[in-house]
Amino acid sequence: MKKLQFVLIPAIILVIGGLAFSFLFEDKHVAKGRKVFSRYCTPCHGEGGQGDGYNAKNLDPHARDLTDKGEVYMAKLSNEEIYEVIELGGYGVELSPGMPTWGKHFSEEEIWSLVAFIRTLHSYDGPPVKFDKEKPYQTAKPRTPPVQEAEFISLFEEKVSDDDGRQEMIDQGKEVFSDRGCVACHRVNGKGGELGPDLSRVGFMLQPQFIYRWVRNPLSFKPHTRMPNLDLSDEDALAVTIYLSTLKGSSDGVQKAEPHGSDSGTVQKRS
Ligand code: HEC
Ligand code: HEC
Repeated sequence: MKKLQFVLIPAIILVIGGLAFSFLFEDKHVAKGRKVFSRYCTPCHGEGGQGDGYNAKNLDPHARDLTDKGEVYMAKLSNEEIYEVIELGGYGVELSPGMPTWGKHFSEEEIWSLVAFIRTLHSYDGPPVKFDKEKPYQTAKPRTPPVQEAEFISLFEEKVSDDDGRQEMIDQGKEVFSDRGCVACHRVNGKGGELGPDLSRVGFMLQPQFIYRWVRNPLSFKPHTRMPNLDLSDEDALAVTIYLSTLKGSSDGVQKAEPHGSDSGTVQKRS
């Protein structure tokens, strides 16, 4: 009995100590990925990555369950494939545009950290994400210069010269709104997501030149916004702006969606 205690007690201490150690000293990239995921991805994918965030009910198809609980899916993807879908979004890899495009929002290193964190959500025995000290991933955010008002004005004059041009832009903008996944986060007339503000009256609230500049480059206004730069062409951005400018709500007033999180309110206008 004495002998057994000799072995058992240190063994137990080792196991418990090891667990505490691994939790306290979680790989720093996994820890970073967890933090980014918690702010930007959980509204759709849920805290545990099970596809059950508060915005999940507004999505069709659903946000993927990243834990592979129902079927083995994530484990079969390579690290590069997961990187690519985060970088380019569902739109860029022929999946649902409800999965946003993040390549203009996060640094290379942040996206690889997300991949490393996502790997901890399901069982996986393939090669781990490599963070090479000699060849580090880019840590700088993809900061593009703010879009100037003059750019909006000249594009507007070129494309919206008459009523026909305007109607074409409205139709195209409606398509952009659903095909590029704006609808996954924003509600219009009772349909759509609740991650961002309800846009049913946005034409009433915001100037078109602000909408255009915001959509082309949200980070230049708010460095920590949850709205990604979806990398729209200038024409698609103009079209969606013209469409949104027509949304002025119904006369009886459209209900605002419940705000979730600290920044789902109205963006401050800046000149
Ligand atoms: C607005 C909702 C939304 C947000 C926010 C969101 N996702 Fe998704 N995500 C989706 C949807 C919807 C799908 C399913 C796409 C499909 O299967 O067509 C998806 C699928 C995925 C997949 C599986 C891709 C595949 O190959 O099937 C990964 C990985 C993923 N998301 C990672 C992320 C990460 C990381 C973030 C945060 C940076 C994020 N998502 C934020 C909605 C969202
Ligand atoms: C991943 C979710 C997400 C997607 C996708 C998204 N947005 Fe947003 N959007 C937000 C959030 C969150 C805010 C609030 C921003 C803030 O305060 O940081 C916002 C703000 C806005 C605003 C300002 C609204 C106001 O009342 O201040 C406009 C306009 C807008 N988005 C348009 C669009 C358009 C157009 C698209 C598609 C090209 C789009 N959004 C895609 C999340 C999203």
